[in-house]
Amino acid sequence: MITFPAKKTAKRTKSKFYITTPLYYVNDVPHIGHAYTTIAADVLARFKRLQGFDVWFLTGTDEHGQKIENAAIAAHKEPKAFADQIVWNFINLWGALKISNNDFIRTTEERHQRVAQEIFEKLKSKGDIYKGTYEGWYCVPDESYWTEMQVVREGDKVLCPECHRPVERLKEESYFFRLSKYQKKLLNYIKRNPDFVQPNFRRNEVISFINQGLRDISFTRMTTKWGIPVPGDPDKVLYVWADALTNYISALGWPNDKKFKKFWPADIHLVGKEILRFHAIIWPAMLMAAGIKPPKQVFAHGWWTVDGKKMSKSLGNVVDPLDVIQKYSVDSFRYFLLREIPFGADGDYSDKAMAARHNSELADDLGNLVNRTVVLVEKKLGNVVRVIAKPDADIAPLLKTTPKKVTQALERMQFHTALAEIWNLVAAANRYINDNKPWAENDSAVLAAELYNLLETVRIIAVLIYPFMPETAEKIFRQLGIDYKAVQWKDAVRWGVIKPNTVIRKAEILFNKVEAK
Ligand code: MSP
Repeated sequence: MITFPAKKTAKRTKSKFYITTPLYYVNDVPHIGHAYTTIAADVLARFKRLQGFDVWFLTGTDEHGQKIENAAIAAHKEPKAFADQIVWNFINLWGALKISNNDFIRTTEERHQRVAQEIFEKLKSKGDIYKGTYEGWYCVPDESYWTEMQVVREGDKVLCPECHRPVERLKEESYFFRLSKYQKKLLNYIKRNPDFVQPNFRRNEVISFINQGLRDISFTRMTTKWGIPVPGDPDKVLYVWADALTNYISALGWPNDKKFKKFWPADIHLVGKEILRFHAIIWPAMLMAAGIKPPKQVFAHGWWTVDGKKMSKSLGNVVDPLDVIQKYSVDSFRYFLLREIPFGADGDYSDKAMAARHNSELADDLGNLVNRTVVLVEKKLGNVVRVIAKPDADIAPLLKTTPKKVTQALERMQFHTALAEIWNLVAAANRYINDNKPWAENDSAVLAAELYNLLETVRIIAVLIYPFMPETAEKIFRQLGIDYKAVQWKDAVRWGVIKPNTVIRKAEILFNKVEAK
């Protein structure tokens, strides 16, 4: 086997990687926003597994609180029965999107409720929970408290500063978490760990938010009944965020399970920008108070609009991922979401943009490259690989640098850059065919060498796209006679993996062209 002189990706012992998504509220059907976070987490999980990491990938559902209670009432159901029904929308969607999560946690499960209560008691025993009265505003859709200074007044309406929907006035007895006590400690932690909050502009936002002063936060609710009972005070339930955030450790079986000991602290909590504060301020403060290590990183991504507008039921522009994958393909959808915008920025979804990328980058560029290669091998070599040829100078430099660049981009969560790099290689391989014209080559040694170069390039591309497009990568591997289950990330820097006498299977169309609406 010829190996590129480039150093292998890295020397690694089998280290662990724990990645999470937010827990999605079970009040409605999932849309592309929910799919986005989960797909991004899946890409990282698959990438790390290929690199040899022991990966734990967690997702799940947030099933308590006033928002779910109200949705259940509107559906004339008991909240638990309602959650039991809606949760399937998520479970089924993750199946359809090829999400490779290792666990799925629901906050109504016993294993979670126990931990949420124990953490509350622990904070209380440390003196970080105290009784008082909460008086102020509450946004039910966001399940968040707002002060008089924060709410937005428009005429006689009082609106949530985050989502601009009406807030409710609350006055109730409550237990508070002494968040203010952790202000300094949090700032120090964020400053000492530049990667803790990412991207950097979000980190700066979090720092300036903390610098404005942290207030203690109400951690229980009285007017809502749908929640985890407060230990020792059953008239109250835990505030839904105080409940849900603990899922990241309850799912690992905190405190004694070996999964917790192995996988905590989380390597990445992926979240949308609107819930960054909960994850980068309240959650680490809770952990500090409980004597548990904070997560290593919280990464906030941006928001999708649809055709330039915020997705909303009233506008009727909520995009159902199942519709998209039916029209295009799972992999086209996964590709589009991560290729269209830099991770961290906001973006816009439209069927037109989706169709454009699907037709040109997937059907034309990648699909044709694979198809042309396999058809040439069929026609010119009778489907059988003859020799292992050396990497051709026309394509070798790019084959050497691309995997490195893709690895770096993925490690920095720059999914769109990773894909752009891979597509540079796809374009180079298509140019290689056009320039060398193997269909007209009469010298059989030259022909065999060119086709071998193409096959290995296609194989390397399949390794690199695997985290993003597992189905497509598997189809390509099958055509190349490779057992996809045995594929590793370092196969992208190997040459000579396809052996002589390998039978290349006939081309199967990877992407059919689709017309935009
Ligand atoms: N239940 C809380 C999270 C608790 S985590 C302990 C919650 N749930 S949610 O159902 O509202 O889902 C929020 C997540 O969905 C966001 O963090 C984001 O990942 C994703 N998105 C929802 N709408 C979105 C867009 N329009 N665009 C991109 N992602 C968005 O908050």
